[in-house]
Amino acid sequence: AVMVGKRVRSGNKWRRVVGLLRELEEACETTVGRLRQVVDAMAVEMHAGLASEGGSKLKMLLTFVDNLPTGCEKGTYYALDLGGTNFRVLRVQLGGENSSIVDQDVQRQRIPQHLMTGTSEDLFDFIALSLLQFIERKENGSEQSKQMRELGFTFSFPMKQTSVSSGILIKWTKGFAIENMVGQEVAGCLQQALARRGLNMRVTALVNDTVGTLALGHYYDADTVAAVIIGTGTNACYLERIDAIIKCQGHLTTSGGMVVNMEWGNFWSSHLPRTSYDIELDAGSPNPNDQGFEKMISGMYLGDFVRRVILKMSQETDVFGPISSKLLEPFTLSTPSVAAMHEDDSPELTEVERILKHDLEIQDVSLKVRKLVLKICDVVTRRAARLAAAGIVGILKKIGRDGSGGIAGGRRSDINIRRTVVAIEGSLYAEYAMFREYLHEALNEILGEDIAQHVVLRLTEDGPGIGAALLAASQSTLRVDSVQ
Ligand code: GLC
Repeated sequence: AVMVGKRVRSGNKWRRVVGLLRELEEACETTVGRLRQVVDAMAVEMHAGLASEGGSKLKMLLTFVDNLPTGCEKGTYYALDLGGTNFRVLRVQLGGENSSIVDQDVQRQRIPQHLMTGTSEDLFDFIALSLLQFIERKENGSEQSKQMRELGFTFSFPMKQTSVSSGILIKWTKGFAIENMVGQEVAGCLQQALARRGLNMRVTALVNDTVGTLALGHYYDADTVAAVIIGTGTNACYLERIDAIIKCQGHLTTSGGMVVNMEWGNFWSSHLPRTSYDIELDAGSPNPNDQGFEKMISGMYLGDFVRRVILKMSQETDVFGPISSKLLEPFTLSTPSVAAMHEDDSPELTEVERILKHDLEIQDVSLKVRKLVLKICDVVTRRAARLAAAGIVGILKKIGRDGSGGIAGGRRSDINIRRTVVAIEGSLYAEYAMFREYLHEALNEILGEDIAQHVVLRLTEDGPGIGAALLAASQSTLRVDSVQ
């Protein structure tokens, strides 16, 4: 090969690029055997995390949610949903029977970047103001607005909860970094900001987005036992038996269960297919050595993974032309752009071409280059979706719904073929068809069709926020009941 600088320019350059692609494919390999090892590791870590505080990288956080909505909740509730790329304010009117939502109104807005790394006062002031304006618009100064309202607050970061309505921020994830917030009680921060705006509201449910999603899933379908988010970040929660939560000894619940927020984004296992790109991505992130599973799966990182692969190929050959400054800059390629390229089915791959030129300022975008990039998107997305599927099966295994074990009296016990619903949310699953297909395919492969047909993934739109409103409602029902 003719080397100019360090880049290969001769006809051999394609051989080098194909070599890099093969290496990537091999390193990202997720055979069903390997996925099963991830499943087992997930179930093992779940046990360890439930046994003791700090027993595993899986925090398995207590949520104090021991009753899930039944469909009989009634009244008008507000909710705030903070933690992804968008911030939402919601108002939900519940019918009181048959899981009816009479009316719902959701307002979405992007969180200004500077608020994600500024002070907690600024962040919560912004939230409180949005809520105030939303309420004023909705209620138009009516009499009702003098009353105390109850609020569900979805705060999608790891919290150490002491009750269903209070919790301390353990650490930030997903690019948020407000220093004075870690260790603070979250509902209190919001409550103070609401008071500063003169809002008469009380946070009665403080929940993770997975927990909100589980609540909405269960509201509609009582077979729902777990919830998964695959969006900017990724995480799952599920309903666990209280006696299996060893670290929560002595705590009794009326239902005998409690929802556990796994924080699976921080899961780690030597069975995960880790590449040199993962190592670099982690090192360059605001939270190195943290959230390893999340960095292989979620929307915050997939685009940057693809960018790193293209960059590496550009550094070693000139197939992409000169290296642009955009290509060198972290996070210039977003996951929605990866999805758009991946799903480009035009013969000339015109969308791939457009995005490469526009997002990464790549000049050389021959059809061969476009096909190469499409393949990279495929490899990265497929790995992510399959790992998420393994995580889901890990939960099913932990709760005995994966069809393994459970041979009762020589026969397969019924519990193993019970219908099991997993509520699921997040832009990757909801808006990226190839991701969804790969995830479903992997579930079938790991579980086998016989078992997989009893597992239903149910997409719940706005689950995190509406679910928080539902939990605020069921909290108040519980209180009324206990007074009577
Ligand atoms: C991150 C957060 C987690 C959240 C998830 C999905 O992993 O730590 O709490 O549920 O993102 O938003």
